[in-house]
Amino acid sequence: MSAQNHVRRMTVPQIMARKGGEPIVCLTAYDAPTAALLDEHCDLILVGDSVGMVVHGLTSTVGVTLDMMILHGQAVMRTAHKALVVVDMPFGSYEDSPITAFKNASRVMMETGCQAVKIESGSYAAETISYLTERGIPVMSHVGLRPQSVNVLGGFRARGRTQKVADEIVANAIAAAKAGSFAVVVEGVSEDLADKVTKAVTIPTIGIGASRMCDGQVLVTPDMLGLFEWTPKFVKKYGNMKGLIEAAAQKYAQEVKARSFPSGEFTYKFSKK
Ligand code: KIV
Repeated sequence: MSAQNHVRRMTVPQIMARKGGEPIVCLTAYDAPTAALLDEHCDLILVGDSVGMVVHGLTSTVGVTLDMMILHGQAVMRTAHKALVVVDMPFGSYEDSPITAFKNASRVMMETGCQAVKIESGSYAAETISYLTERGIPVMSHVGLRPQSVNVLGGFRARGRTQKVADEIVANAIAAAKAGSFAVVVEGVSEDLADKVTKAVTIPTIGIGASRMCDGQVLVTPDMLGLFEWTPKFVKKYGNMKGLIEAAAQKYAQEVKARSFPSGEFTYKFSKK
């Protein structure tokens, strides 16, 4: 048995038990080195389809494929041993029928070894959520701003500005919880609405741009590390990765041009036998 088999990983029931208790800490990860650094500090690591935008340079998550999610899920699972790892189901992989969703979600579970999947949950989702859950696939839902619907919504603006949309968001969260989701991401809503959703469901809510009135928080890691100049209003930058990378690249370029790198310290020297 390898050492990593001894590490006790966070489980779905443990996450569910945090409803109304200690806030759930969640960040996204897409690669092995980042997951290794985050693992100690997170209850839950999300391999989000935001990978399309923050790693692959796409303008939305719509172009992300199942194969991309599996590849990034595998990388994260190699080094995340403590946090519960959830992999996003990409656009087009789960919406048309519970059977398609099961076929694709079971592939994600089997090929990555992750513990759960996430789906963006409109009114169509309840049947799929119970179909997956009953067959052994824990589901985290995602309501409010659903980025995979960007082409219907016309952008990534916060949601719930009218009573009708706010009511729909609460109804989607309730339906997702009743269908068996173990947690629900609530994205881009006001504090009032986040509070309503959190009170309306018995499962933990995990907010992103959804105020403190949630049972946990998630941020897109490259955003919170400060890799990008522009980020949405709700992102607090906990680091300055952009500045660090730019400064390091500039110094490296200067030293290469000046032939001061590599100096003797970074050069192999073999004594002849
Ligand atoms: O893809 C992602 O990173 C997400 C978060 C925004 C919750 O779904």
